[in-house]
Amino acid sequence: MAVKHALITGITGQDGAYLSKFLIEKGYEVHGLLRRSASADVVDTRLKWIGVAENVTLHDGNLTDLSGLIRILETVEPTEIYNLAAQSFVKSSWQQPYLTGLVTGLGVTNMLEATRLTCPQARFYQASSSEMFGLIQEPEQSESTPFYPRSPYGAAKLYGHWMTVNYRESFGLHASSGILFNHESPLRGIEFVTRKITDGVARIKLDLQKTLPLGNLDAKRDWGHARDYVKAMWLMLQQDEPDDYVIATGRTVSVRDFCTLAFSHVGLNAEDHVVLDERYLRPAEVNVLLGDPTKARKKLDWVAETTLEELIAEMVDADLDRLRHHEHL
Ligand code: NAP
Ligand code: GDD
Repeated sequence: MAVKHALITGITGQDGAYLSKFLIEKGYEVHGLLRRSASADVVDTRLKWIGVAENVTLHDGNLTDLSGLIRILETVEPTEIYNLAAQSFVKSSWQQPYLTGLVTGLGVTNMLEATRLTCPQARFYQASSSEMFGLIQEPEQSESTPFYPRSPYGAAKLYGHWMTVNYRESFGLHASSGILFNHESPLRGIEFVTRKITDGVARIKLDLQKTLPLGNLDAKRDWGHARDYVKAMWLMLQQDEPDDYVIATGRTVSVRDFCTLAFSHVGLNAEDHVVLDERYLRPAEVNVLLGDPTKARKKLDWVAETTLEELIAEMVDADLDRLRHHEHL
């Protein structure tokens, strides 16, 4: 059988690393879009950590540069395209609303156009987000729940989501949109709340810091493990028909309770260390997210395999390990 070629945008991010490993283990030839950086020595840190840096081919490009994307797709001739690249940090999207719209929103159109023009038979995955539900319209959010984004990031993702649906309906692309709820791992960016907490817990445990400054402790999220969620992305592209799927655990927990679990993993008390810092509050908040993954379970035979307690233990242990070995991520 011919080797399948996958192109991953956002390959240097958290999900890009886990998806690369997953696809390589399935026998794929994996290619990635690499945003050029002056710090070339650190761009593939996650790919190195997960052990696949030598097994992927990286191509210089940017989601905002359509002609470059066309050139890469002509070279790679992918059978599957995973569009994971984005300005993905919600808080920054208020500081950089235009850039967020350009990359996270219009970047999707660029990828869809490049696909339509060069490889319309390729299967396309768009990384949509539970942030599109924002001010939730139903207590449990499914594929039929109305959207109400609360940030420039959420609005940009919603545009990308509808463009994916539109290219499917207009041009017959095999384009699927995964509405993924928050997913974390030891490779999560340090600015996101889970990783900030597990890194903080590890530093406090090792006497490197005393307090952990956080914003809204009452926000609730449906947190899963990135390793489980990249499998769902792949499953969507193995279906005969493209479609949209909510991917979630079906359990929601507050930031406060996440702290309690993370501190207790190392025998500490969260209340002794967590302090409120208003700089981390947001102009508009998504108070609670809770996904209903019934469709994914029934149609993809997908379920979240890792519990929140297991996820937290893995993240805290990885941060302790990194700090003890003076490693950075
Ligand atoms: P991440 O770690 O922030 O990775 C984002 C990736 O996008 C990085 O590889 C980054 O490259 C790349 N990128 C940013 N701007 C780019 C540009 N202009 N051109 C090309 N590449 C660019 O994000 P993640 O957590 O892996 O998430 C993957 C995708 O899923 C994102 O689209 C995110 O919005 C979406 N999503 C994530 C979650 C979640 O909970 N993780 C949930 C729902 C949806 P650099 O390494 O150069 O910065
Ligand atoms: N980052 C951060 N830092 N968040 C904090 C803090 C803090 O110090 N204190 C409280 N929070 C709260 C935020 O206000 C938010 O309600 C919640 O913790 C989660 O914040 P993040 O971890 O930054 O994630 P997010 O939910 O805003 O966005 C992530 O999930 C989306 C899916 O719902 C990102 O991965 C997005 O890219 C993704 O689409």
